[in-house]
Amino acid sequence: MKMKIIALLAVLAAAFAGHHFGKKSAVANSIPVTQVEKSFTGGYNSEQDEDLQAKQETLDGPAGIANQSTVIVRQGQSIQEAVKNAQPGTTIRIMPGTYSETVYIDKDSIHLIGVIKEGKRARMDGLGKLNDAILYSGNNVVVENLYITGYKGNGIMGQAGNNFEIRNNIIADTGVYGIFPQLGKNGIVEHNVISGIEDAAIYIGMSDNIHVAHNDVFDSVAGIEIENSRHAIVENNFVHNNTGGILAFITPGLPIKTTYDVIIRNNWISGNNHPNFGAPGSTVAGIPAGTGVLIMAADQVIVEDNIISDNKTAGILIVDHANAANITADPESEPNPDSVAVLNNTMLNNGYDTIAEVKALMALEFKTGSPDVVHVSEGKDNCILDQSQYVVAGLKDFAVCDFTNTDEVETYLLDEPVAPRKIAASDRGEIAYLGVCTGCHSYNGRLIGPSVQQIQALYFENPEGLAAYIANPVKKREDYPEMPSQSYLGEETLKAVANYVLAVENKSIETH
Ligand code: HEC
Repeated sequence: MKMKIIALLAVLAAAFAGHHFGKKSAVANSIPVTQVEKSFTGGYNSEQDEDLQAKQETLDGPAGIANQSTVIVRQGQSIQEAVKNAQPGTTIRIMPGTYSETVYIDKDSIHLIGVIKEGKRARMDGLGKLNDAILYSGNNVVVENLYITGYKGNGIMGQAGNNFEIRNNIIADTGVYGIFPQLGKNGIVEHNVISGIEDAAIYIGMSDNIHVAHNDVFDSVAGIEIENSRHAIVENNFVHNNTGGILAFITPGLPIKTTYDVIIRNNWISGNNHPNFGAPGSTVAGIPAGTGVLIMAADQVIVEDNIISDNKTAGILIVDHANAANITADPESEPNPDSVAVLNNTMLNNGYDTIAEVKALMALEFKTGSPDVVHVSEGKDNCILDQSQYVVAGLKDFAVCDFTNTDEVETYLLDEPVAPRKIAASDRGEIAYLGVCTGCHSYNGRLIGPSVQQIQALYFENPEGLAAYIANPVKKREDYPEMPSQSYLGEETLKAVANYVLAVENKSIETH
């Protein structure tokens, strides 16, 4: 044994010497990238299993492969500068260190990938002053391996980019939204660790074909939010100590008026009892602390095989717009949750300290105990697999579901990347409105900022004034947060969006 240790020491000493006396340049630019693509082959032989093979194929990321050229950014250098100089298709690898900047990615196929070295990451620090860490409007963008903290607005926000991959980032204490793809199609958010977010840790806004998996989401107001979005799967996430765990809902007053076809399965949704610290008046500020799953006005939401435990208001709360706090109804949005399916879930110790409204509902139904599933709405075609397992309230109209699982649905990601969103000069105003402004402004009610109707009244026939304000916002309302500057959009787009906002009506748009 001793011999072996000594031999090992000799090897180490040689390696050390080589490192110090060898040619320095050979070391400087090399980052080991694991590219072994071989799978474990022992155990159960699944070679014949065609299903599994099909699954492997769909697991390839939606953004596709970049890597035509790789650029390295080191502490002291600027990530934004690297993006500015990069051709579409470039992989930008960021070395461990601290970077205090906002990065705008307005090109396609940029892969922004942190290098993790002995546990140290590239750390983006907003120092409590900067608004956003990463804003992308390009398609096929990948953001991976970063540590993001100290921003006031968003950690990572997508503004109308398709085919995105946001993976393995740690995001802590970054203001309003942690990961927020807005108006994107075909994207994945996985293996991120997100905490301390004042609105939603993961906010999928006005998007389609989305996969949210294997994230650890905690200490935020809303854990994972699927909002005005379609064809989304939320699975295998650990969602704990938020005010509300997983939410599927329609925010009224946005230009996309529906949320449907959402599968929430195999998540661990536990102890989401955090006191609500959402911005006063915001939608999430109305969520009662202790809500495991919230379904508000969304349709065709399936809740399956989750462990839902220790959420004090209810395990699953299903409501319409009329019964939700902080919601201004939208005549253009259907307000009831319809075709919701609660399949088998493991539920324990929910609803032990529920809100007065739920207690009243239970009293009406002569129910006692702590509610697992609560429904308050006029919605139709809802079902539950086995009511008798749970303490329920308001489920009289629920049928027994005619299916037991979603095993047939592997993913809603598309086989091929969708085409980049082509933005004609004439569409700039609309896309900026959809991709940026609607994150904080709804047509007719308060969101993070005042309603579009109020804005239209203030800036009637004054698009120049509006454009000037959004380029350099000043604090106006005591009870609202500050609006971040939108000057990065550039003069042309600022003008276009100002004109668009003043003319826009409350109607549903088709996504392109
Ligand atoms: C991150 C959230 C956020 C985003 C994104 C955002 N705003 Fe705002 N906006 C606010 C908040 C908050 C206020 C209220 C600020 C205040 O009163 O101090 C506001 C206020 C405004 C006002 C009122 C100005 C006034 O004179 O009272 C206008 C106009 C406006 N926003 C336009 C826009 C437009 C156009 C966009 C898209 C390009 C946009 N905002 C994007 C949060 C946002």
